[in-house]
Amino acid sequence: MKFKIAGPSAKKYFEKLLPNQKFGSYWIRDKKNFIINIYALMNQLSSFEKSYKKLKLNYPKNIKPELMSTAPSVLSFLQYLISEKKAKKILEIGTFLGVSAMFFAKEVGKKGSVVTIEKGEQFSKISKSNFILNKIKNIKLINDDAINALKKIKLNKFDFIFVDGSKINYLQIFKILEKKVSNKCTICFDDALYHGDIFNRKTITHHGEGVKKLQNYLKKDKKWNKILVPISNGILLLNKKSKN
Ligand SMILES: C[S@@+](CC[C@H](N)C(=O)[O-])C[C@H]1O[C@@H](n2cnc3c(N)ncnc32)[C@H](O)[C@@H]1O
Repeated sequence: MKFKIAGPSAKKYFEKLLPNQKFGSYWIRDKKNFIINIYALMNQLSSFEKSYKKLKLNYPKNIKPELMSTAPSVLSFLQYLISEKKAKKILEIGTFLGVSAMFFAKEVGKKGSVVTIEKGEQFSKISKSNFILNKIKNIKLINDDAINALKKIKLNKFDFIFVDGSKINYLQIFKILEKKVSNKCTICFDDALYHGDIFNRKTITHHGEGVKKLQNYLKKDKKWNKILVPISNGILLLNKKSKN
């Protein structure tokens, strides 16, 4: 009997990586709007834009929230992960206007808490005002450089750590975290693709260089589970391998 495949086939696994490759988009007629349609469907299912729009935000005139805030689709994915893990204590590096911190704070609820570290004084003040504006009380903001602050914080109490500050320090930050976090902690590095710069033989930006240094270090590591999720600008998720 001849076996007939109902859809397209792929010759290599990389051809199945993203939905807009031939394998995942074979039957769609409106190819131009495929990504927009995926986004709309994700949003209809998770309502992340509605949650985002509910937040009241103070921000400086010359800086729009979209500039540096993590995309709502990513925050929604992380909220799902946090709820799946039943995480209660979250640490964030890089607060900006406080959007991601507020998403996390809402997810962990009153019994949980978020500590967020922001180097810039202006962003520290604005994000604090945003926490008040949105009546969110379970966020503690530390106005300091991440490396300084990390040396003073008890790191083994956190269930989830979101690293989104300066990408230049990513490796230095990971080297601090890897020694001190608990076995149950999940670490997430944002901007893990850094707008494609990491694929340049010689990176164009210092941030791209920082992200690449972390990834080169992690390629040799055997102690952590690692998964790079190609959503938005890429997120890299890690947890410690169990020893059994
Ligand atoms: C991409 S933004 C964070 C966005 C935020 N997590 C969100 O999604 O709403 C990065 C922030 O990290 C801060 N930052 C940069 N270097 C830092 C450092 N060494 N220590 C602490 N914060 C830093 C910047 O001032 C900026 O506000």
